[in-house]
Amino acid sequence: MNAKQKGNKTYTTAQVADEIGVHRDTILRWLRRGLIPEPSRDWHGWRHFSAEELARIRKSATEVHSPFKKHENKPLVSTSIDISRLYAIDWNFSDAKTTYLTHGIHPYPAKFIPQIPNALIQELSTVGEVVADVFCGSGTTLVEAMILKRFAIGVDANPIACLMSKAKTTRLTSEEIAELMNLATKATNLGQSIAFHKTDSLFGNKPFKSSAPRPVMEDVSFWFELFVIEELAEILQWCWELPTDGTRNLALTTFSSITVTVSKQDSDTRYVRRKKKIKPGDTALRFSSALLNSIKMVEEFCEIVEPRFKCAVNNVNILDSPDVGKFDLVVCSPPYPNAYSYHLYHRTRMLWLGMDQSRFKQEEIGSHRKYSRKGQNCATIETFHQEMITVFSWLARTLKRGKFACFIVGNSIVRGELIDNTKILTSAARSSGFSLEACISRKIKDTRKAFNPKIGKIKKENILVFWNVK
Ligand SMILES: C[S@@+](CC[C@H](N)C(=O)[O-])C[C@H]1O[C@@H](n2cnc3c(N)ncnc32)[C@H](O)[C@@H]1O
Repeated sequence: MNAKQKGNKTYTTAQVADEIGVHRDTILRWLRRGLIPEPSRDWHGWRHFSAEELARIRKSATEVHSPFKKHENKPLVSTSIDISRLYAIDWNFSDAKTTYLTHGIHPYPAKFIPQIPNALIQELSTVGEVVADVFCGSGTTLVEAMILKRFAIGVDANPIACLMSKAKTTRLTSEEIAELMNLATKATNLGQSIAFHKTDSLFGNKPFKSSAPRPVMEDVSFWFELFVIEELAEILQWCWELPTDGTRNLALTTFSSITVTVSKQDSDTRYVRRKKKIKPGDTALRFSSALLNSIKMVEEFCEIVEPRFKCAVNNVNILDSPDVGKFDLVVCSPPYPNAYSYHLYHRTRMLWLGMDQSRFKQEEIGSHRKYSRKGQNCATIETFHQEMITVFSWLARTLKRGKFACFIVGNSIVRGELIDNTKILTSAARSSGFSLEACISRKIKDTRKAFNPKIGKIKKENILVFWNVK
């Protein structure tokens, strides 16, 4: 029977930290290092320190030759990197600009601000090393790695994520830029013809009709006005006809970036229909102006990033333990249980681009759809735990020995219950021999992480730094 069950006063970790006058994370670090004994826990897994345990911690913490003090002066792990430096950084980056270089090319739900991977890459790796984001999404880490003179590897099961990650990290030649400028001009001409000359006079009393193929999509007219479908089909055909992978990827990414705006889908994180004010010609004009912006961003990226730093993006399911090479550092933000349904928000984009939406739907970890199913097929927290065990056992082999894996994660709510994802990830990491070296809490801007309020909005997230000790 523990002190709490006996009815004696007990203290939570935060209360112990308060009493001693240190940060809660410091107590957790002491616990991890075995400098203070683990107290008993209740059924939630929360620690309860007895009054005697608190007294012992206070005594050790104030002794002149405190084991804690000695420890704080030593590097925390046997590498040249001092993790304690991470605690000195203000991770809120309150007024930081987040759309510089190629970061703003395409919207993506739950992308992290570039300042987070930037700081982690600078602190935990060196120039010339390989930085991976194993849930790369829109490629934020990959872009930052290249800016900081590292090689980059991205993994994501979402084909839209991989398309934009490639576009954002690929250098283009001046000939390729010229091809794309021509495409922008063609799209402007099409949009202006349709909008200003009125469709009647230009296309023989008929609205503009493209001969290009349409997406295989039963409900295409449910999600798009008929004239929008014509303009999208025409532009898409032009994108496919571009001569190189680099030009095609940037044009298709730009095409994808405008698809939801010109559709009747409410927004990037709401798959419901709403009427929008899109006029004939608008789609082509929007595409053209978005493409000019994308070109400018890529040109700026090319000026900053040295050509020798390359990026490889892999459109694969991480749970298949893919062979994508070895890394010196991982910086990622994993999918949270019940948070988003990327396969749904990106459905119309994927169908236009001929991508396999149903495959990604099956593979997507954490999707709101999987967690809100009824009955036996419903995903549970144990599902997520097992998935993360698979991820860390793969990382134990792909991340080089003695290197770090950083996971940025918040909590989620599943069927009304608050889920501590930090705890789940830490347990999964430990099962593969990783140790948690830092857990730093940061505030999330209210405007970001637009969770559906019915599912829950998170206000804080943790930066977890795991060390591959094996
Ligand atoms: C929170 S987002 C990452 C956002 C990213 N940090 C950024 O800045 O854009 C999580 C990502 O995990 C990906 N994902 C979900 N299930 C996956 C799986 N089985 N294999 C690989 N990636 C997966 C999603 O497609 C999504 O892009």
